[in-house]
Amino acid sequence: MTIDLRSDTVTRPSRGMRHAMAAAEVGDDVYGEDPTVNALEAEVASLLGLEAGLFVASGTLGNQLGLRLLAKPGQEVVCDSMAHIARAELGAAAVFSGITFRTWRAERGLLDADAVRALIAPDAGPYLVSTAAIALENTHNFGGGTVAPASAVAEVIALAQATGLRMHLDGARLWNAHVATGTALSELTAGFDTVSVCLSKGLGAPVGSVLVASADLIAEARVWRKRYGAGMRQAGILAAAGQYALANNLARLADDHDRARRLTAALGGDPGACPTNIVVLDVADAAAVAAAAREQDVLVSALGPRFLRLVTHLDLDDDDIDRAIKVLEPLVRSAG
Ligand SMILES: Cc1ncc(COP(=O)(O)O)c(C=O)c1O
Repeated sequence: MTIDLRSDTVTRPSRGMRHAMAAAEVGDDVYGEDPTVNALEAEVASLLGLEAGLFVASGTLGNQLGLRLLAKPGQEVVCDSMAHIARAELGAAAVFSGITFRTWRAERGLLDADAVRALIAPDAGPYLVSTAAIALENTHNFGGGTVAPASAVAEVIALAQATGLRMHLDGARLWNAHVATGTALSELTAGFDTVSVCLSKGLGAPVGSVLVASADLIAEARVWRKRYGAGMRQAGILAAAGQYALANNLARLADDHDRARRLTAALGGDPGACPTNIVVLDVADAAAVAAAAREQDVLVSALGPRFLRLVTHLDLDDDDIDRAIKVLEPLVRSAG
């Protein structure tokens, strides 16, 4: 059987999750009448310590709604140069919201408050682009699943408060940060105006993310979601998968983290630099390693000439990791 380490998005809904989906009570969510969607939105908002939630089809949509609530056309959002919103959302913030980005460099995605301080330009006057918001990512995907250092996050939030900037959190894998550190989810979101979390990554739901914010911002986001054509009707079938994921698949993320650390160590990386479920390796020819592994039914992502990414998830067990190591170790060693 193929061992798919390309992403934690490749999981398939389990039998229990499918049962929960089939049994979901539903209604028309555009009318706000889907009880399962409403319950999921309330559950996630409460877990994250914000007032309200909005169920959306993807993490990209959650981020893009968040960004557009915080910045006007012609304003900028600042983030790190490897942030998913800057690298992997196909320019959506520019295309849909007229927002530009400026970026700071962050080794392994790790936040440095001084880099943010040096970059922001609130109220930049009539010639320069004004910064409206700061966006952070936790955990950091292209940084290798790194957890944003709490002290740096607190410093950046204080900076935003002092300068009148707003804060967005791309928390696609915030669950992983919570499990890895033991920090309460509501503590990880404190000080952010908008937060997007995904149910379809480590938690294993087939579809769905939730944007959380104040009730006023979520009311606005609901209008924009519909305007984008992304209002869904009996979406409770999908929301039920999210509820099931939160109830059954959250604590077990620790297993994914252990397996990622084991992979890292076996492939010559530093397990200390792998706090969650994403392994990044620097190899001479990432595409060649990925192609050779594919021939032996192990799938990994080559995200740059030297950038190999492996992601553990709930459809992989210890035996799968052993087999992946057997295939990958000689390939990575010979690639150097
Ligand atoms: C950090 C991060 N944010 C946002 C997204 C976007 O999620 P989606 O693929 O559901 O649009 C991803 C997807 O992998 C991600 O890794």
